[in-house]
Amino acid sequence: MNQKLDLENLLGSHGSNLAATMRKGLQWLDDRSEPQLLRQVGQRVSDLPDFIPVTKHALQNSFGGNQTQAPDDLLVGRGLFYLTEQRRLCLDCTSGHYQMLWGYNHPDLCAAIAGAMQSGVVWDNHSNIPQAPAKQLAHQLVAVANSPDEPDPLDTVLLGVCTGSVACAAALKIQLKVYQRDRSSHGAPLIVVLDGNYHGTDMVPQFMRGLWPELVRHFEVIVLQPNDYEGLEQAFHRHGSRIAGFWAEPIMMNREAIALEADYLRQARHWCTETGALLCIDEIQTGFWLPEVFEFRALGIQPDLVVTGKGMTAGFHSLSAVLMKNRHDLLEQYDAISTNGLAALPSLVALASMELIRQNASSIRQIGSRIGRSFDALVQEFPDQLVSAQGRNYLSGLKFRSIDCALAFHRQALQAGLWCRVHAYHAGHSTLLTKLGLLANEVIVDYLVDQFRQLLKQTDASKTSHLKQAV
Ligand SMILES: Cc1ncc(COP(=O)(O)O)c(C=O)c1O
Repeated sequence: MNQKLDLENLLGSHGSNLAATMRKGLQWLDDRSEPQLLRQVGQRVSDLPDFIPVTKHALQNSFGGNQTQAPDDLLVGRGLFYLTEQRRLCLDCTSGHYQMLWGYNHPDLCAAIAGAMQSGVVWDNHSNIPQAPAKQLAHQLVAVANSPDEPDPLDTVLLGVCTGSVACAAALKIQLKVYQRDRSSHGAPLIVVLDGNYHGTDMVPQFMRGLWPELVRHFEVIVLQPNDYEGLEQAFHRHGSRIAGFWAEPIMMNREAIALEADYLRQARHWCTETGALLCIDEIQTGFWLPEVFEFRALGIQPDLVVTGKGMTAGFHSLSAVLMKNRHDLLEQYDAISTNGLAALPSLVALASMELIRQNASSIRQIGSRIGRSFDALVQEFPDQLVSAQGRNYLSGLKFRSIDCALAFHRQALQAGLWCRVHAYHAGHSTLLTKLGLLANEVIVDYLVDQFRQLLKQTDASKTSHLKQAV
């Protein structure tokens, strides 16, 4: 191999120490059993050598570009565990930013990648001559999106998109194009969304969640509260055939993991059918985290459009898709693409990952419900601090009684080496979020819940001692 292409060289002036520590770090993770790793979560691994991390100064501020303290970013990861650059061991409880379905560098997926590359599969050929794995993924997505006897199947996949944001924008364009084709004489189209939605970072979907209020004109959005049946009925009664589309995430991971009820989505289906609106289910968060692959399948809903991404390629490389019915396939090639979006190798990872889901279906179901039950039990145990368990299965949350409590708990969890997220930055939001990878077993779930229990007990204890002091 060209020596100049070694990791040591490519990582710059401190690269040789850094690359050596990365290798040792990975070996350290590989040499330990799961119980050994769990015993050390949150601790600094002192037997790894010092090195100087690469600074973040050339990155944007929202990614820590203006950070003054020494970086403590990802050093290496394996499975559900990772080491930070300060050599702390963490348990990843949110699968990265919710996409690393099988954790870090799952050996079976890495082997599948290596094998496929040896057979000539390319990462991405960036053009409209897709290699076999991408085409096969489209077939597999169609297969899992429909029951075998579905009379009006989702039979077409727009697979030329890299990130979920582009896929969401594409689905919105489809709703608007179909409206233009079928009902343009009914007036300007309306889009119905749920309060707290997140359909990516494209400007118009951001407008659907209240951003750019002055800049996006001539585009009307109706915002409903999730699971508000009456509001849903009123909106459709009032606006009828002017509604071009309805959007919903089955579990709103960007709003405290609110889980939509199957009946609510069935009602939405009913109203969309009545008025001609296209029902779009955004499965970017929910997709691939359950044996049915899609939440809408588990809930028994028949959408017109499905957006998927994130977990589809298990976090190896982004790739997203829109599933639709062929009669709605109105976009031209350059209406909605990423030029980096016909990625054969990520598609191969998606196929391999779907096979792993099939092989592990019963444990995925079991662990999913164990998480739900355990979070419910925590709420029963700590009613002074917790209001409710949120979400469904792996996409789960704990809603705290106050924003401050949620933020404090999140800080403590991070200190304890439990990488999780919190929604407490909007009025009324006070929820800690977790989304364990599908590698999680009973031991991991029980460990996490027990760690949460200890942190909640500490808070209870410190409240009691404050009260005693006040008396
Ligand atoms: C529900 C939902 N839709 C869309 C997106 C956008 O996906 P991406 O970040 O891949 O652009 C996200 C990302 O978090 C999401 O959670």
